[in-house]
Amino acid sequence: MRVIVIGATGTIGKAVADAFAVRHEVLRASRHGEVKVDIEDPDSIRAMYREVGRVDGVVSCTGHGAFKPLGELTDEDLDFTLRNKLLGQVNLVRHGVDHVSDGGVFLLTAGIFSQRPIPGVPALAIANGGLECFARAAALDLPRGIRINTVSPPFIDETAKKMGFVGGMPAAENAMWYLRLLEGTETGEVVFPE
Ligand SMILES: NC(=O)c1ccc[n+]([C@@H]2O[C@H](COP(=O)([O-])OP(=O)(O)OC[C@H]3O[C@@H](n4cnc5c(N)ncnc54)[C@H](OP(=O)(O)O)[C@@H]3O)[C@@H](O)[C@H]2O)c1
Repeated sequence: MRVIVIGATGTIGKAVADAFAVRHEVLRASRHGEVKVDIEDPDSIRAMYREVGRVDGVVSCTGHGAFKPLGELTDEDLDFTLRNKLLGQVNLVRHGVDHVSDGGVFLLTAGIFSQRPIPGVPALAIANGGLECFARAAALDLPRGIRINTVSPPFIDETAKKMGFVGGMPAAENAMWYLRLLEGTETGEVVFPE
């Protein structure tokens, strides 16, 4: 398959792109990557698709949001979280449909805070929950047998270590769940690697 991974230089995305590259052609995209895209800018998303041409898979491993408790969330924090993590990935799908081959697949990245929040994540929880709901509903509308699924990863070990914590799922192990969904037949699913 010919697959574009957006966020391919990140903790999750690099492991995903490396896992795919063993048996698929992988295009690595991000703001500063081989293929340039800013998911906050719909024009940039459309330009990315024009540049890469037809693909069999679009895999989003990006999206940022505000990690702040409810009482500290500003209007700007909420706007940023929705514009970036939620709408950025929704727009990768909306503007990508015509560039994905018959029977192709979209994979989006949400996160465990949709279902198992900790203090400080109401903004991220909205984005994650929104992505899960979006993919479930969009699966019913996508044409030509195109599939869509969301992965909601747990805390990743490499990220935990950067933050001074221990534990979490290694990024390479998490990436195997993306590979399974890329090559599988599921659609409209939310997958929680564990
Ligand atoms: N790490 C975890 O423990 C964890 C757990 C659950 C869910 N998640 C979710 O998984 C996703 C990836 O997390 P991560 O930890 O791998 O992030 P990360 O290490 O910070 O990597 C983010 C990636 O996205 C790219 N990127 C950032 N802003 C972008 C933009 N506006 N347009 C296009 N690309 C952009 C970055 O590259 P450039 O700087 O070149 O753009 C980079 O490749 C996020 O949605 C995160 O919430 C992460």
